[in-house]
Amino acid sequence: MARLVIVSNRVTVGGKKGQAPGGLATALKDVLTPETIWFGWSGKRGETSGRLTRSNADGAEIIAMDLAEKDFTRFYVGFANRTLWPLLHYRPGLLSFDRSDYEGYLTVNNQFADALMSFLRPDDIVWVHDYHFIPLAACLRQRNFTGRIGFYLHIPFVPPALFSVLPPGRALLSALCEYDHVGFQTETDVRHFRACVMEILRYSISKEGVIFGPHRPCISNAIPVGIDTEAFSAMAAEAEHQEEAERLRDSMGGKALILGVDRLDYSKGLPQRFTGYGRLLEKYPEHRQHVGFLQVAPRSRDDVKEYRDVKRQLDQLVGQINGQHADFDWVPLRYITRDMPRSMLAGFHRVARVGLVTPLRDGMNLVAKEFVAAQNPADPGVLVLSRFAGAAAELQDALLINPFDPDEIAEALHAALTMPLAERQARWRRMYEIVHRNSASAWSQACIQAVLGNRHMDVQPSSRYYWQRDQQAGKRR
Ligand code: ADP
Ligand code: F6P
Repeated sequence: MARLVIVSNRVTVGGKKGQAPGGLATALKDVLTPETIWFGWSGKRGETSGRLTRSNADGAEIIAMDLAEKDFTRFYVGFANRTLWPLLHYRPGLLSFDRSDYEGYLTVNNQFADALMSFLRPDDIVWVHDYHFIPLAACLRQRNFTGRIGFYLHIPFVPPALFSVLPPGRALLSALCEYDHVGFQTETDVRHFRACVMEILRYSISKEGVIFGPHRPCISNAIPVGIDTEAFSAMAAEAEHQEEAERLRDSMGGKALILGVDRLDYSKGLPQRFTGYGRLLEKYPEHRQHVGFLQVAPRSRDDVKEYRDVKRQLDQLVGQINGQHADFDWVPLRYITRDMPRSMLAGFHRVARVGLVTPLRDGMNLVAKEFVAAQNPADPGVLVLSRFAGAAAELQDALLINPFDPDEIAEALHAALTMPLAERQARWRRMYEIVHRNSASAWSQACIQAVLGNRHMDVQPSSRYYWQRDQQAGKRR
């Protein structure tokens, strides 16, 4: 029987080793079966790359590879997170490029291909995740693997004018076309990818979106990633009555909780968000003493300078906002930079009156979907969401804002805090239905069908409906 072999940089190991807060681990954790192999980095940095360890976790076999410190630095810190990440998040000003980092990136992709070839069977389906492994299909084809290979990009894709800034852009674009299927979060990302393929590579693309280059035909489309909604809802309902959520509620003393949960990443728009909250307290003084903002932002990618810079900026801003607005009995902004168990966060989402999710650009943003899933149907909170998060294409009933405008954030917060119950319920109900239908399992099934080349994807018609709606909205724009 064909096995599914998932490849990603982080692997879930029961919440340990290579796992860190992040959308990818969240999405994949919910789609594992005993027949699945999940291959990735072990989380260990040592003298040499290549040592493999095998274990079982979350119902799948995990095969994890150590990386040499030098390889890890050039591959992950350098090319993946100082070149590709800023570029694909529309931040060319933060991009730095070094040829030796790119060589390190190719080295690790080749090491991964060698390791994969040691256990792959010819009929395995390989499903590769994220910008760390764009060249992996090409590496596997060079080693004569002929089975189906799919790729899913969890982050955005930029238009040709931006993509062409990338020195090895042509090579990477051509490498993407060596996959049988390339999946994106939104129709916008797909449009940008196809435009790059046509303008930069001059490959032709059929009406159905099949790319005809020098390799096998490559299908590209948008399949938005989801969460295990029912499980998350149930977890939130239970966690609400556990000690931490109770303590959080008690500490609010009846004040409305505004909650932000993000990795501490410059793409998440945290400085603008904090400023927007400060603006709320200035423009709408009636909320002073009646709200509290809790931002949970676990430190991320500390090896990368730009992440340390944003952390410093946030530390200062928190001091400024609290210095300006706090009173002897009220701290307006609480800020935590460590990981928390997912169940505890689920309980916090349920306690919150407002979920504040304001990335400057984001592939999907699963936190937005988790906030919706966690709400109490009888008294749901309001989601304030950036129009530049992938989730905005599906969650049109959130209060959509431009995250670059702190005044707009303040106005949306005011609208959310004063929204009548009936409107909160109506908005929440429509969003919950979508988050429920476009679940992690609908997403993975649709992706795997697409990798297999099945045009008529075996997913619930309702999920297809939302993608079509997004597609039609894209045509109208
Ligand atoms: P990204 O992949 O860019 O980090 P997403 O919003 O798509 O963004 O996914 C983030 C995931 O990480 C969510 O599942 C969220 O619950 C989890 N997460 C975020 N903050 C924390 C935290 N402090 N502790 C544990 N998990 C977190
Ligand atoms: O969702 C984007 C992503 O880069 C994932 O691939 C990753 O697991 C997550 O963010 C967290 O980032 P990192 O693995 O660099 O800590």
